[in-house]
Amino acid sequence: MAPIVIAKSGGDPDFPAKLTTQVIVCTVIAAFGGLMFGYDIGISGGVTSMDDFLIKFFPTVYVKKHQVKENNYCKYNNQYLQLFTSSLYLAAIVASFFASMACKKFGRKPTIQAASIFFVAGAILNTIAKDLGMLIAGRLCLGAGVGFGNQAVPLFISEIAPAKYRGGLNICFQFLITVGILCANLINYGTSRLHPNGWRVSLGGAAVPALFLLIGSIIIVETPTSLIERGKKDKGLETLKKIRGVDNVDKEFEELLHATELAKQAKHSYRNLMKRSSRPQLICGTILQVFQQFTGINVIMFYAPVLFQTMGFGGDASLLSAVVTGLVNVLSTLVAIFTVDKIGRKKLLVEAAIQMLIAQTIVGAILAVHLKSTNAMPSNYAIFVVILICLFVSGFAWSWGPLGWLIPSEIFPLETRNAGFFFAVSMNMVCTFLVAQAFLSMLCSMRSGIFFFFVVWIIIMGTFAIFLLPETKGIPIDEMNERVWKKHWFWKRYFDDGGDDDGKGDVEIQAKPEEN
Ligand code: BGC
Repeated sequence: MAPIVIAKSGGDPDFPAKLTTQVIVCTVIAAFGGLMFGYDIGISGGVTSMDDFLIKFFPTVYVKKHQVKENNYCKYNNQYLQLFTSSLYLAAIVASFFASMACKKFGRKPTIQAASIFFVAGAILNTIAKDLGMLIAGRLCLGAGVGFGNQAVPLFISEIAPAKYRGGLNICFQFLITVGILCANLINYGTSRLHPNGWRVSLGGAAVPALFLLIGSIIIVETPTSLIERGKKDKGLETLKKIRGVDNVDKEFEELLHATELAKQAKHSYRNLMKRSSRPQLICGTILQVFQQFTGINVIMFYAPVLFQTMGFGGDASLLSAVVTGLVNVLSTLVAIFTVDKIGRKKLLVEAAIQMLIAQTIVGAILAVHLKSTNAMPSNYAIFVVILICLFVSGFAWSWGPLGWLIPSEIFPLETRNAGFFFAVSMNMVCTFLVAQAFLSMLCSMRSGIFFFFVVWIIIMGTFAIFLLPETKGIPIDEMNERVWKKHWFWKRYFDDGGDDDGKGDVEIQAKPEEN
């Protein structure tokens, strides 16, 4: 697995760096991996509510959907339909494992290129799909693209960004995820009128950002860290000078040599991660991804049109409502970018948990009262539900969404950062898969109760954020253990005995403190 090595730069006079065009261009191109991810998240809900698509691939769902007496909550319940959505995440879990090895052995750039090739192949297969097999094969290719892209892109951006701008540049990835979701919703809104092949245009649309990523990935640089890690020190130095826009990069270069040396020593990062002293970060980093998914966000992202149709909206109105929620998602992510380093992570998480709790409870109550098995919901209530869903999405977008990625990437010490972050990412994919696969069946069996299921989770995660999650705002990442974990009222007990189960410990690593 490729180590995440974060070098000092930016604000430190010893590490002069400009925010060069090269860095910006490379970040934007790489972040298109996020746009691809977002496009795939957003496209399936709209496509699976298109009649032409259902007739071709899921005729029984189509028949059920149009039976007048069919149960509102169960008309889309079909394991194969869910498999269409969730197969992507299954592929992504497997692919991210191989991607982590590719990142280390071949570098970040070829891994991003591999992601774009998977994306292009998946988009083509989906566009020309003749049967369910081809459709799922296309989805699996896209999943491989997500696995490779999500593993390599954040790593790539972290390594080329000057420290001073790293946070903002990294959130570009999440920002483009939300833009991808919105684009998918807009395209679905347009293509739902194109009969009988609108769905092909929707699925084929993924080829546009995929091709952009493929062509763009030819011109991006390889990260100096990866070059040095693979023994290409001269090339690493040359690239570092180019991306920093200054000649005097000696100190940063030295730091990179030192950091890669440390990362090499920590080759037992998984063993280190199993140590008692790693438990606080491992638990918090992984559980945040579980919580992120159990807010129920992807029920909205994948199935918004299906959900809105369940509430009695027409096909068009459903897709339009999904476009509105997509827009709210994009704009609210901007709020996170500008507030996270000012008001801190915990406040955002707790505020949003309360906001999401209120929204989900009222939605559940309205559905319980006004949406019986076979009626349509009164339109004023349906509109109110859309507003509440927007409230829910905005809360997620400025908290559990971006912070579910940010916090796991900043709480691990260097020796376990790589392995720990990999756990967090895989957990995200596993939980996304579970929610995607189970949602339609849960909607059918639990009906409006599904919203209360997520409410319970939100109460748990809000409580966790208040009592157990430490605040990490403004703390240099290499000082997390000393300044955060060892001082936390609960987690400090994991450091009482030196933190090792066997008392011997593994490789003792003294990372140079980072000055952000
Ligand atoms: C999550 C995705 C989600 C998206 C919504 C991401 O942070 O990982 O599962 O669909 O946010 O914007």
